[in-house]
Amino acid sequence: MSAVLPVLSARLTAAVETTFGLPGVDPELRPATKPEFGHFQTNLALRLAKIVGLPPREIAVRLAAALEVSDLCAQPEIAGPGFLNLTLLPTTLAAGVNKIGGPLRERGERVVVDYSQPNVAKQMHVGHLRSTVIGDALCNVLRFAGYQVIRQNHVGDWGTQFGMMVEQLLDEGTEVDALDLDGMQLLYQRSRKHFDSDPEFADRSRLRVVLLQSGDSQTVEIWQQLVEYSLTEFDRVYALLGSPLTRADVVGESAYNDALQGIVDELASAGLLTESGGAQCAFLPGFTGRDGSPLPVIVRKSDGGFGYSATDLAAVKHRVDDLHADRIVYVVDHRQSLHFQQIFALARAAGWLPPTIPAEHVAFGTVLGPNGKPFKTRDGGTVYLVTLLDEAVARAAALLADRPGLDQDTVARAVGIGAIKYADLSNDRSNDYVFDLDRMVAMTGNTGPYLQYAHARLTRILDKAGDSPTLVTVLTEPAEQRLALLLGGFTDTVVQVAETLQPHRLCTYLYDVATALSSFYETCPVLSSSGEVRASRLALCAATRKVLHDGLGLLGITAPAAM
Ligand code: ARG
Repeated sequence: MSAVLPVLSARLTAAVETTFGLPGVDPELRPATKPEFGHFQTNLALRLAKIVGLPPREIAVRLAAALEVSDLCAQPEIAGPGFLNLTLLPTTLAAGVNKIGGPLRERGERVVVDYSQPNVAKQMHVGHLRSTVIGDALCNVLRFAGYQVIRQNHVGDWGTQFGMMVEQLLDEGTEVDALDLDGMQLLYQRSRKHFDSDPEFADRSRLRVVLLQSGDSQTVEIWQQLVEYSLTEFDRVYALLGSPLTRADVVGESAYNDALQGIVDELASAGLLTESGGAQCAFLPGFTGRDGSPLPVIVRKSDGGFGYSATDLAAVKHRVDDLHADRIVYVVDHRQSLHFQQIFALARAAGWLPPTIPAEHVAFGTVLGPNGKPFKTRDGGTVYLVTLLDEAVARAAALLADRPGLDQDTVARAVGIGAIKYADLSNDRSNDYVFDLDRMVAMTGNTGPYLQYAHARLTRILDKAGDSPTLVTVLTEPAEQRLALLLGGFTDTVVQVAETLQPHRLCTYLYDVATALSSFYETCPVLSSSGEVRASRLALCAATRKVLHDGLGLLGITAPAAM
């Protein structure tokens, strides 16, 4: 919550050791739940009562006497049955605000983030929105926390469906050059139908996959065209979304093709494979279905083809061996949880994923429509991401239409796209959420536009003030103390998000800052005050603006100077 927190915690630990001879006790110091409890509180004395054999209040009194924090806090207070409350000195609060900085120094660790992962020949849908928005935010946060970040866009560009599509195209005599994105999607649907209804076509499609995997030039050429169309479309969506993903981050499933045989061979020689119904499978302890039957990882299908799992195993190996990952993060919807648990377990069993390298599935829930069911168009079709983004920008433009002197296009884009991203990120990612544009673009409540507006209002005040703000020196009012306390916790909050991979914690923090800012406005005049108070409050405004600007930036949201 605040950078002083670790310091105070260490001093409490030391006090427990000198007073009771107990080393290394975690005081579990927490932000106070009410202003009258100061800034931080701990139930340490209550927890020690049994161990030490003294009444909690007695313990609290002794601890308070032994605790050396007079450089940072007012005299510690004891409340209720033995809670210890700490109140920071205004100078401590001011120091916390005055040293808010940028990204932390590189810690010499690399994190690979697998995210976005749209599929070739299909339009991106709301599920890919979540992966892209959460993935971008996590990359920014991890970078801020000192990691070197390697993005991997695991595009679905390989598999049976491409055999089907190429075969259908050749059957129909359609020129691949004549296809646009919709044409591709329709071709996919026709080939799927054909595949499901005509066993002879299905056989040819499987042979076509083999041709593709073995590099047959005619097949590869058509496939490459399909991939190229799709990647161009993905680039367009990323640009609209303001995602930094580029072609250089694309390492599609096809990239692992040549490694797949080796994966199967290694697993076989490690004794990890069993033949089951003609397929090569790994059965791992602890993976069973509802009926108790063992759940396999199929690494080679009965038709000889390699599947999604083999590709993911090769990807793990590549990320550890070639990219030298110290941590691997997968931003994929929760329906693939079992898949990733199995991949991680098998990769560990095979020795490809050392125990020192964490692999984490950052699972997320489903985007729901107004009816509370997975988001679909009125006629049950897929909701395209581009349509939603365009709609959000139009909505924002309508809201901003009456504001003079704005660069309407730029601001509407920042607000519309920001609204969608914030709505997605501010929910605990494991939950489903309802896609409700009206609520997302609202200027009040826990929304992106509300935070953007708070930032723009601060910019206006600071511009009006004229003189450039210096340092926070005076913090007398509770409202400005509360704001300062929060601001001082910015870096810690971001570091916490880098650990937990939960962007909603950063959203909650920024919303708390904006709420504390409006209480500050109510009780602490800024422009109409004078002297040192005015200078200090302007500095507090500048720090708040920086935190909102940088915090939104980490979430992938632009904060316009005016709106
Ligand atoms: N393309 C897949 C899909 O749309 C997601 C890929 C996730 N990443 C991975 N390494 N398996 O469902």
